[in-house]
Amino acid sequence: MGFTRLLTSLLAISGSVLAQSSTSYTDPDNGITFQGYTDTTTNVTYGFVFPSGSDSDDEFIGEIISPVANQWVGICLGGTMLDNLLLVTWPYGDSVVYSPRYATSYSLPALYAGPTITALPSTTVNDTYWKFVYRCQNCTTWTGGSIDLTSTNSTLAWALSTVAVDDPSDPDSAFAKHTDGSCHCNPFRSSAYQCSHRWCILRELLRCPERVLL
Ligand code: HEM
Ligand SMILES: *[C@@H]1O[C@H](CO)[C@@H](O)[C@H](O)[C@H]1NC(C)=O
Ligand SMILES: *[C@@H]1O[C@H](CO)[C@@H](O)[C@H](O)[C@H]1NC(C)=O
Ligand SMILES: *[C@@H]1O[C@H](CO)[C@@H](O)[C@H](O)[C@H]1NC(C)=O
Ligand SMILES: *[C@@H]1O[C@H](CO)[C@@H](O)[C@H](O)[C@H]1NC(C)=O
Repeated sequence: MGFTRLLTSLLAISGSVLAQSSTSYTDPDNGITFQGYTDTTTNVTYGFVFPSGSDSDDEFIGEIISPVANQWVGICLGGTMLDNLLLVTWPYGDSVVYSPRYATSYSLPALYAGPTITALPSTTVNDTYWKFVYRCQNCTTWTGGSIDLTSTNSTLAWALSTVAVDDPSDPDSAFAKHTDGSCHCNPFRSSAYQCSHRWCILRELLRCPERVLL
């Protein structure tokens, strides 16, 4: 099932999948307007907002909202597993662990140094969902690739598993292959950046538990 979905979706990438474009949505928990999509089989939402939407951006704010059944969720910023920046995330207690990775073969991706990732305060875990909201700096270029923000054809791939990583406390944990995955075209372009990127970050970082500052 997972295999088929990965393979067929990738083969279909230049066909009908292109017709599905991402949409703009505002997360009520943080007020940030993301460009993204929800996979309707796994109910995982992937959102992105860039400072300007130009190729000079080297950072973005992203979020991954996942049902607790998914024990890790990863994204491939270059659209495929190999030779691309991967961001793998999983819930751990009340928080979410993040792990930038890189794979040169179809085996456990290694930790990748370079990105500076900051979990933002609207990151939450509850009984049904976990949500990782993050700032990803130095995240749009990597060894051998980059996100092309000006393309109407940029591709985001995702993979996830219902099997937990070996040691959820450790960002360098080993884990087994995905149980599902697919890809989506044009997730990054936004028709409107309704909330200034820097303002979103500042507002999020200033957020205190009682929301007194806001
Ligand atoms: C132990 C870890 C992993 C193993 C052993 C593994 C193995 C594989 C294998 C064998 C394939 C070929 C197609 C298939 O058999 O389904 C594949 C495809 C794929 N994997 Fe992984 N994988 C791992 C982790 C990851 C992670 C962390 C991500 C994303 C963050 C990812 C994303 C993908 C994607 C998008 C494909 C589709 C084909 C492609 O992009 O080349 N994988 N993986
Ligand atoms: C996704 O959400 C729908 C509608 O709420 C629900 O019927 C379905 O069981 C959910 N699937 C998963 C895998 O969470
Ligand atoms: C950005 O990431 C690259 C790897 O993709 C790394 O070589 C470089 O040192 C990083 N730059 C900074 C300022 O952290
Ligand atoms: C759990 O978190 C999700 C995602 O943030 C949210 O949509 C949902 O309303 C939350 N459920 C409860 C009971 O707070
Ligand atoms: C869109 O991306 C796919 C996959 O990378 C590629 O095969 C296709 O040529 C691209 N189309 C355009 C118009 O750039």
